[in-house]
Amino acid sequence: MIINSLKLVNYRNYDNFTFKFDKGINVLVGKNAQGKTNIIEAIFYAVIGRSFKTSKDKDIIKWGENRAYLCGEFSKKYRDEKIEIFFDENKKKTIKVDEIAIHKIGELMGVTNAVFFSPDELKLVKESPEERRRFMNIDISQTDKRYFYMIGRYEKVLASRNKLLKSTSDINVIKETIDIWDRALSELAEKIYIERKKFIDELSPFAKLAHQYISGGKENLEIKYISSFDGSYSDKMAKYLAKNLEKDFRLGYTTVGVHRDELDIYLNGTEVKNFGSQGQQRTVALSMKLAELEIIKNRVGEYPILLLDDVFSELDKDRRKRLLNFTSKTQTIITCTDISDNIEGRIIRIGM
Ligand SMILES: Nc1ncnc2c1ncn2[C@@H]1O[C@H](COP(=O)(O)OP(=O)(O)O)[C@@H](O)[C@H]1O
Ligand SMILES: [Mg+2]
Repeated sequence: MIINSLKLVNYRNYDNFTFKFDKGINVLVGKNAQGKTNIIEAIFYAVIGRSFKTSKDKDIIKWGENRAYLCGEFSKKYRDEKIEIFFDENKKKTIKVDEIAIHKIGELMGVTNAVFFSPDELKLVKESPEERRRFMNIDISQTDKRYFYMIGRYEKVLASRNKLLKSTSDINVIKETIDIWDRALSELAEKIYIERKKFIDELSPFAKLAHQYISGGKENLEIKYISSFDGSYSDKMAKYLAKNLEKDFRLGYTTVGVHRDELDIYLNGTEVKNFGSQGQQRTVALSMKLAELEIIKNRVGEYPILLLDDVFSELDKDRRKRLLNFTSKTQTIITCTDISDNIEGRIIRIGM
């Protein structure tokens, strides 16, 4: 899968500009603050329907303007896709796929695919479990609309259950109605659990290989999906919700479920989050993203687009070289401030 062109109108610092991309490596070169990341953001926006930089669409509209537009033209193995997004400061954005407006973001899932990596993605390894759940949610959704809708429903049910927990000071009132929420929550949780487990089982061997390749070493990367329950999830969770009702009531939120899942990540048996060096953590995060390339390839039959923002500044020369070898199978769009690495590809100069 490749992106052929990207048109931006009043998108961040761009007035009206169209970029054309090659099917191999594209290098966006420019000084700081010229708009390289903005291009990567726009491409990924067209793929997943939101920004990795902001949750406020208004931020995207060029200062002093009230509307913005982006259009990505993609080619897949058997068809082309045109994705357009219309931003308006006074309205919700509109998304069109091949000229037809879609009504739910879920409909955009799987139309195109991309994997995004930047130094910021270190948070995937370093920060709270929420980052790792977000990683699973975004990546599974990219090839599975059903999963995207399931997550949305789970969050709604969870919010309703939490609201009920806080709605009265009499636990008996809650006991009368909470059953419905518990059942709905447990059933959704089981389905989400199954998809996440499948995803991580598929991801970890690829991530392990990628890590060994990029680091040029023998470090053994293991990723384990940690969930509160196992195969018979739904029954166990329903029982657990009931058992923990008093605690949940006291705290005012639900303490068990897939919204508390975690990924434990180890190098040679040691937890990377607490004991890995910055360099190791960075390579692990990159390896997890590179592993996704293979998963998406397995699931949809072709490689996604690889978006690499500012990764070169953070890797030593050998790692940079190995990363580039690794990406030969995909269309790659990479940003950097200078081209000292002899990267073979289309050079696109950004800004002054
Ligand atoms: N909504 C906006 N309107 C106009 N300019 C913006 C907007 N959002 C960000 N910018 C500008 O975009 C530039 C940053 O672009 P960015 O893509 O992050 O640069 P870099 O080339 O360093 O990756 C900054 O100069 C910032 O002021
Ligand atoms: Mg940047």
